Amino acid sequence: MKKQNNLTSLFEPRGVAIIGASHNQEKIGYQIVDNIVQGGYQGGIFPINLKGGKVAGMPAYSSVHEVISDIDIAIIAVPARHVLDSIKSCTKKNIKNIVIITSGFSEIGNIAEEKQIVKIANAADMRVLGPNIFGLYSSKIKLNATFGPQDIKPGHVSIITQSGAIGIAMIGKTKVENVGLANIISVGNKADIDEVDLLEYLTTDENTRAILMYLEGVKGGHKLINTLKAAALKKPVVVIKSGRSARGAAAAASHTGSLAGADEVFDDIIKQCGVIRAETIDQSLQLCRFLASSQIPKGQNTLIITNGGGVGVMAADACEKFGLQLYDDQVDLEKTFEKVVPKFGSFKNPVDITGGASAKMYDQALAAALKNNNINSVICLGCETASFDAEKFADTVRKQDKAYHNLKPITFSIFGGEQVEQGIVDLRKQGTPIYSDVYDAVSCLGALNSFKQNKLLSQNSAIEIEINKSEIRNILNSAKKHKRSFLLAYEAQRIMDLVEVSVPASSIAKSMRQAIEAAGKIGYPIAMKVVSKDIIHKSDAGGLALDLENKQEIIEAHESIMYNCKKHVPNAHIEGVEIAEMIKPGIETIIGARRDPSFGPIVMFGMGGIYVEVMKDVAFRAYPLSRAEIMKMISELKFYPMLLGVRGESEKDIETIINTIVKVGAIITSCPDIADIEINPLVVYDKGEGAKAVDVRILLTTLQETV
Ligand code: ACO
Repeated sequence: MKKQNNLTSLFEPRGVAIIGASHNQEKIGYQIVDNIVQGGYQGGIFPINLKGGKVAGMPAYSSVHEVISDIDIAIIAVPARHVLDSIKSCTKKNIKNIVIITSGFSEIGNIAEEKQIVKIANAADMRVLGPNIFGLYSSKIKLNATFGPQDIKPGHVSIITQSGAIGIAMIGKTKVENVGLANIISVGNKADIDEVDLLEYLTTDENTRAILMYLEGVKGGHKLINTLKAAALKKPVVVIKSGRSARGAAAAASHTGSLAGADEVFDDIIKQCGVIRAETIDQSLQLCRFLASSQIPKGQNTLIITNGGGVGVMAADACEKFGLQLYDDQVDLEKTFEKVVPKFGSFKNPVDITGGASAKMYDQALAAALKNNNINSVICLGCETASFDAEKFADTVRKQDKAYHNLKPITFSIFGGEQVEQGIVDLRKQGTPIYSDVYDAVSCLGALNSFKQNKLLSQNSAIEIEINKSEIRNILNSAKKHKRSFLLAYEAQRIMDLVEVSVPASSIAKSMRQAIEAAGKIGYPIAMKVVSKDIIHKSDAGGLALDLENKQEIIEAHESIMYNCKKHVPNAHIEGVEIAEMIKPGIETIIGARRDPSFGPIVMFGMGGIYVEVMKDVAFRAYPLSRAEIMKMISELKFYPMLLGVRGESEKDIETIINTIVKVGAIITSCPDIADIEINPLVVYDKGEGAKAVDVRILLTTLQETV
């Protein structure tokens, strides 16, 4: 099956045919032709209607075969039952793209016909956009091939949308919000052209400075990750994904499985790709407008100028959340603002020019910040006070926004009454990044900063390690031979030994006598755990005893474990008990790895122990990973300060955590028979003292669902 990779002909067609161009102004087939004509497209416009005549003032042809000029796009707007024939009629016309507006295919279960359409089109070297879409807009050639609004503001944001209705509404909203569009593309059922193809095109499109994607579902996540990564290095990419609360359908046989809900994984992985996730459509448009028009800051130093302490503190808090670094060279700040800040003001960042600040003082402060090369970006805040003249302030904002434009990013936020709100609306219409909410002003700069940081982070290459695959395969084969869907503890420990992850000393005892002997060899205190393929959650079944100090306690624990487990799972086949070294306390962490249905191999790290699902302090990443990315993953967690050492404690062995994450990721990547690995807890000791994988659980692919 042939496929052109270059979508230039879709975005810069020489001619467009509209099959199903209607004479009836109420119909989609009419509106598309009218939009193309009214939009100012200068290429060939060829309405196709069996009855001929004129559509939206353009002569209609009864078939594409009547058209003698080049057609690069055939838009299909006929009922579903006629689509296949319409496409067949295009196959001999050297048409490059088919854009199918028509609904009634895979979205209602008509999968076979959709597949057939793509097969026929691709065989004739035609790519298919849709079906079930509103069309596309390309500002470069003024092509509005949609049945959405006519009046689209051209600009530098490109939108890819899976939802047609939201996409059409977005076109209107972009106009209101003064967001100029480079392109908007509706992908619908993604029968052929998908987000990956479109991202590849938009990454090289010089008209596109920021990309916004509205996603509902993710197909072929692994390919999407790579394309998103590549795109996000060139241009800011913002994603809105619906279905945030949907949980993965994975059988929750492990914490990793139950914590790896579709949304949690998606959130962390797009972060890993350097993509910015917007919470709402409004926020996404705000971010895109700013990202498409702003300078990239030369450094991390951010300055807040304010006339009110409260909003200054709110902005400073938001800066911390969005990873913006506040410039804090006190000497330099005093020198820069000595002429502007009154004696009772503050030179500390947020620089407080006080409640009596006039527009002139703002002007001077902003000019001074612009001149200082140590300040890389500025957040300017204003609260309406008696001395605050909204009109004059707006003039200053306009003037300074212009002055900053090619030099440094700046955002503004003013908070006040009707006049202030009106001022914001007016300034926004003129393209100024001004918001009534401080948080919005900071989040825009934060997004710009994370775009820059991502570029820096991507310079680190992924860690690659070799593991002893054949030995691991032998262990897996033996488990499969016994029709087990998971490895027994000693088998999982053996795999840890093979990749040099330290586990507590242990041995299997098939009888009470062997248990006593083993405990004597390992040395007290001892932990005892049931060994049974029928019992996964040992503590729930009463199959675990800790801190056994002597022979008598071993005897009692053995008896109670056997009693509890038989009571909890009456038909369980119990092979014996594991006698293990009681390890010294440290910080309990969890490391997991699994094969995600959308994204392929993923790893998880977080706070471990029995409260893992209550605390949910975990982070996910697609594997492989660079050391810097693993460090970022660890440092995002709430319990990270505990790893650095709190209240005089020593720093923990983060290096061992990193190495263990890499090893677990390497196992899942190179052993397709393993579905899920989990170490919980991995007890981490002080720096240089390593960690112990106390409980290791490994689930196998084929039988995982049955666990
Ligand atoms: N060749 C040329 N012209 C044809 C052919 C053909 N094979 N078959 C029909 N026509 C003409 C018809 O004569 C008609 O023109 P006329 O009005 O001048 O007589 C025109 O094409 C349209 O055909 P209709 O049968 O009237 O079809 P209708 O307009 O009712 O519906 C449509 C077609 C719009 C494609 C419909 O089937 C459909 O799928 N609608 C949903 C579209 C949609 O919502 N897509 C998703 C968008 S995203 C979102 O959710 C907003």
